[in-house]
Amino acid sequence: MDNLAKQAIGVFDSGVGGTSIWKEIHKLLPNENTIYLADSKNAPYGIKSKSAIRDLCVKNTDLLLEKGCKIIVVACNTATTNAISFLREKYNVPFIGIEPAIKPATLNSKTKKVGILATKGTLSSELFLETSSIYSKGITLIEQHGSGIVELIEGGKIDSKEMSTLLHYYLQPMIDANIDYLVLGCSHYPYLKPQLELILPDYVQIIDSGHAVARQTRAVLEANNLLNEQSEYPEIQFFTNQNPTVLSELIGKHYSITELDF
Ligand code: DGL
Repeated sequence: MDNLAKQAIGVFDSGVGGTSIWKEIHKLLPNENTIYLADSKNAPYGIKSKSAIRDLCVKNTDLLLEKGCKIIVVACNTATTNAISFLREKYNVPFIGIEPAIKPATLNSKTKKVGILATKGTLSSELFLETSSIYSKGITLIEQHGSGIVELIEGGKIDSKEMSTLLHYYLQPMIDANIDYLVLGCSHYPYLKPQLELILPDYVQIIDSGHAVARQTRAVLEANNLLNEQSEYPEIQFFTNQNPTVLSELIGKHYSITELDF
């Protein structure tokens, strides 16, 4: 096995939400060393300009490359849709991005009405507009900015009254429009599934992109001969620049977290 294969998979997000993607990667590739960066100090990315989002992505990528990562997973829809082509041009390392799973939702919808909850930055990006125009022929997409949701999750308020009020407010127009799929277009949102299931009618399917990202990561590692075949327990590192308690609640107390100013 090539020495580079032993290097870590680097994962970053605007905060704690990308751990929903990290969990899928760790489940599918349990031998891999991983490094996760939670840029919580700069969350939310979704209300920032494209150039500000790119600058933050460069900062995160530089840090992961300094730590020797062999591949970078951009575990943030907002960062992917605004910066992934720029990152691929700038760096000589494979990047995996995450985009809202519109394709399976629109292909399988029977009511031909699909809801999508994502940040303003994702829904207004060129990449999202391109993808949605390809897959939404004959489908009504009901798009909703999830303003305020990321802030509540970053503040440790997943199960709060404020969250419940916001979710009801955002979902009711989709329910009224008769959606049968809800696409979660932000890596923070899978943590809301239990609440979303309580609000939505039973026939509405909720889909996110976590597993697809993990499979794509494995495929790209395989194609580049970078799969880590070690049998010993992998090294798993988490770094955050704010509020380690919230991160720890989501990943479990048995992982240690390093606070770092980045
Ligand atoms: N997890 C990020 C995403 O997937 C949250 C964006 C934000 O920080 O606004 O879009």
